[in-house]
Amino acid sequence: MPIIAPSILASDFANLQKEAEMINQSQADWFHIDVMDGVFVPNISFGIPVTEAIKKHAKKPLDVHLMIVNPEKYIEDFAKAGADLITVHWEACPHIHRTLAQIKEAGCKAGIVLNPATPVAVLKDIIQDCDMVLLMSVNPGFGGQKFIENTYQKVKDLKSLIAEKNTETLIEIDGGVNLSTGAKLVEAGADALVAGSFVFNHENPIQIISELKSL
Ligand code: DX5
Ligand code: ZN
Repeated sequence: MPIIAPSILASDFANLQKEAEMINQSQADWFHIDVMDGVFVPNISFGIPVTEAIKKHAKKPLDVHLMIVNPEKYIEDFAKAGADLITVHWEACPHIHRTLAQIKEAGCKAGIVLNPATPVAVLKDIIQDCDMVLLMSVNPGFGGQKFIENTYQKVKDLKSLIAEKNTETLIEIDGGVNLSTGAKLVEAGADALVAGSFVFNHENPIQIISELKSL
């Protein structure tokens, strides 16, 4: 059974408490928090105060996905705001070994995110330091985009790298996840699925989360 992380980006921001309570009641495992700065990605979402506000109501871990330049400037702030797991983009971190250590130092699990065009091979000398790797299956910046099919092969490549290096790294996928892409991702070896619009645009999100959970 995959870990399910509904993305708050697709939720009703005017009713965050209600949305958090829905996730608490559902079979979801984590809250996925998409932070965008309008520089690393062409969109701005929300930041530290909103993460803090969600934390007040969340009874499950916060999986914070930083789509920002210079994420090392804000790691401690997000940890204080309640992040349990922080992922940073490989493309945004020239000293990613140091950034992962900083995240762990702040008391969080640490992960690397790869954009669709970044090959899994860049992780060869850092996978042992990753609690998780998040593979983007759309270009980061927006919810509701079409799933990029090449992701299945990347999941398999990552699975082999993890086996070869004998690490306990989790594989998470983000973007365009629904019941059909989700099933194939789990079959390819994904451990965790992020789902935004598929969950929140549905009339019964709790039901959809339980269907994703049974994949
Ligand atoms: C995209 C974000 C995703 C997004 C996924 O940049 O990282 O987490 O919310 O949305 P869906 O599930 O609608 O593709
Ligand atoms: Zn995300």
